[in-house]
Amino acid sequence: MSDPRLESLRQAVPELRLKTEPGDLEHYGRDWTRRWTPAPLAIALPGSVEEVQEIMRWANANGVAIVPSGGRTGLSGGAVAANGELVLSLERMNRVLGFDPVDRTLTVQAGMPLEAVQNAAKERGLAYPVDFASRGSCSIGGNIATNAGGIRVIRYGNTREWIAGLSVVTGTGELLELNRALVKNSSGYDLRQLMIGSEGTLGIVVEATLRLADPPPPTNVMLLALPSFEVLMQVFAAFRERLQLEAFEFFTDRALEHVLAHGAQQPFEQVYPYYVVAEFAIGDEAREAAAMAAFEHGMEQGWIVDGVISQSDAQAQQLWRLREGITESVARYKPYKNDVSVRISRMPAFLRETQKLIGDSYPDFDVVWFGHIGDGNLHINVLKPDAWGDADFIAACEKVTRLLADELQRHEGSISAEHGIGLVKKPYLLGTRSAEEVALFRGIKKVLDPNGLLNPGKLFD
Ligand code: MLT
Ligand code: ZN
Repeated sequence: MSDPRLESLRQAVPELRLKTEPGDLEHYGRDWTRRWTPAPLAIALPGSVEEVQEIMRWANANGVAIVPSGGRTGLSGGAVAANGELVLSLERMNRVLGFDPVDRTLTVQAGMPLEAVQNAAKERGLAYPVDFASRGSCSIGGNIATNAGGIRVIRYGNTREWIAGLSVVTGTGELLELNRALVKNSSGYDLRQLMIGSEGTLGIVVEATLRLADPPPPTNVMLLALPSFEVLMQVFAAFRERLQLEAFEFFTDRALEHVLAHGAQQPFEQVYPYYVVAEFAIGDEAREAAAMAAFEHGMEQGWIVDGVISQSDAQAQQLWRLREGITESVARYKPYKNDVSVRISRMPAFLRETQKLIGDSYPDFDVVWFGHIGDGNLHINVLKPDAWGDADFIAACEKVTRLLADELQRHEGSISAEHGIGLVKKPYLLGTRSAEEVALFRGIKKVLDPNGLLNPGKLFD
């Protein structure tokens, strides 16, 4: 027999598409963490902003919690529905609504996949420059909810930089149109920025007007091999000084081994401990000479021990695969993920301490390091040995995360650079944000979502 709450939802929103099959509940109830058992009440797939508002009003009348849902590629449990919530999937709201060549903006519905947004911008002669490996599956609404970063932050910044205007449905079903896509708007609190990164706890992003950039310049990709972690920031400084960097990413030999086992091509005959993928603008002789000069300087200093530069787009893609393929290649080990950041100036000292902490704490686990080193953002993935149960493994890792959080506190860093707090990093929030700030979080949520129905239990309790 159907749940009476769903009967009332059907009456309240007569045209609403709902899914209740067990396979659907499982599919839409989890994200890439795969840590919680999905148990949503049902999946609602609204086709319009009005339907989202009607669902929210119904949720208030019936006391049902809502989990806003994009592509569910998140790594912090932000889109998990494990407690009888109604999942509100934006996947049917996936169209371009408008393009303005004068304003250079693209207005889209929140369920549009990032890659489709990038293609839509390209077809119009411009670019949406935020980019990362899950581009084909994640949605722009989810990107906005987590202020997603990725591989080009060093050049273009985070999602936050590219949101000109937002339409958001609040916890009471009100529709807010935020910032009117204005470049300048000094008329009070910027609620648009408050919504960005709020992980679906303050409102449901339903539409966004995105700022577009010039098409990217022609680029080359270099893969560098480094002898030690200590030289990483020196190579970064040398390259940043000489080149217009579009990306500067690093990974370790352990990461490379997993990607190669997953089908990527060996880049060098020899194995080295650390690697960097650098993408930089070319197009004139001066830029090409600068790239060679940066490389040669690194070799002379002994910071770089080998290197290859892409000769074609296909080769550039092959080199990128070594970095972008890491997440997928380690997924079968259910990695415990750390996504931490410090200011770039703090990176050398932070790296030294963290290497020691991780080395001492995990003598027996396979630890894979990679990340957006040019943004001060490290991903430290600890892989679960097959013999370990999920709960024991997570408990062992969480003890170390506590120490890492203390270290981040000392270095004034963040426990979540770009993946969000969600459920996974909630116990460590107070190492990054003060008690006063978190008290304000709670107060703000009370105003926008008085009944606490929007993604409850995520970010903070
Ligand atoms: C990445 O940089 O590849 C993403 O943040 C995903 C991950 O950390 O696994
Ligand atoms: Zn990342």
